[in-house]
Amino acid sequence: MTEGRIRYLARSTGDPLAEDAPNVIRNFTRSPKRISSLYVYDKRGTELFERQCGTPEYYLRRVESQLLNRHAGDIAALCGFPPIVELGAGTAEKTRILLAEYAGRALRCDYFPIDVDMETLAESARKLVSVFPFLFVHCLGATYEKALSALPPCAGPRMFMFLGSSLGNMERLEIDGLLRQMFEHGAPGDYLLLGADLDKDPAIIDRAYNDSAGFGPRSTLNMLDHLNRRYVGNFVMDNFRYRSHYDSLAKRNDVRIESLVDQSVTLASLGFEVSFSAAELLDAEVMWKFDPDELGEILERAGFSLMRRWIEPVYRYGLFLFIHK
Ligand SMILES: C[S@@+](CC[C@H](N)C(=O)[O-])C[C@H]1O[C@@H](n2cnc3c(N)ncnc32)[C@H](O)[C@@H]1O
Repeated sequence: MTEGRIRYLARSTGDPLAEDAPNVIRNFTRSPKRISSLYVYDKRGTELFERQCGTPEYYLRRVESQLLNRHAGDIAALCGFPPIVELGAGTAEKTRILLAEYAGRALRCDYFPIDVDMETLAESARKLVSVFPFLFVHCLGATYEKALSALPPCAGPRMFMFLGSSLGNMERLEIDGLLRQMFEHGAPGDYLLLGADLDKDPAIIDRAYNDSAGFGPRSTLNMLDHLNRRYVGNFVMDNFRYRSHYDSLAKRNDVRIESLVDQSVTLASLGFEVSFSAAELLDAEVMWKFDPDELGEILERAGFSLMRRWIEPVYRYGLFLFIHK
């Protein structure tokens, strides 16, 4: 019996982006215009992201997996086998590495994956319970904020997991806000396992976000298609192109979408029209490349103490284990 081990929490919110329409309009009326990164990951966006992760240039998934494979035993030795709450779980490919440590050692593991992409969440829950007979999955198909406030109380410590350098996909104020929320919804003794990309040779970063197979660019441009599907829009893909730029001083990579012509686009179900001029850039995604000490300080200020960190020296990617103070 696998289905009996999957349940859906926070379902009352239905479609996690159902209430986002006012933000879409607000983001297209500001200057520069912006598309929230929430629109990267519909089913198609996740498929393209997964293919990007498999390219030789995109080191993030590969190196984080290596670190987890190497140190899952250390993590289990430090934390034991607590329930897992995973933010932005996606396909949970790397979660399996940690869950393999639980096999034969824990009778039961409660896993709370959080993701706005409901389809991927449901599919990965089905796959995980079929592989791990001790696993009970409690899906939270919602934004991080909504999901954290829907988490049931827990008698002992939990392991919060935030992989894929997803923390770096938020603006600094949003990062502080989310960490504050995690602190408030967590309890002393909870663990936080964070995967974060670090500052490095800009050429490595440029290659990762401009893979020769073009999956990164297609995954970003899919945001326009996602808007088309969701709001009955008429974005024409060929009228836009992908741009990625790393600012090594700010340690920040910005992905933008450039309008190639003067054009107007309608989102019919919102009764909204937006105009773009040729060469106009829309902000789409941000990827911070952290300094490891600075990251420790950000977390320390939010109420988490560093227990251990493991840094891969060639591509400079880090796994950081914190404890809630
Ligand atoms: C960069 S992917 C990482 C996926 C996976 N953890 C990994 O490391 O490969 C980010 C994931 O977070 C989800 N996500 C992004 N922003 C979110 C938000 N505000 N609330 C909930 N999920 C979010 C996306 O749907 C996507 O699955």
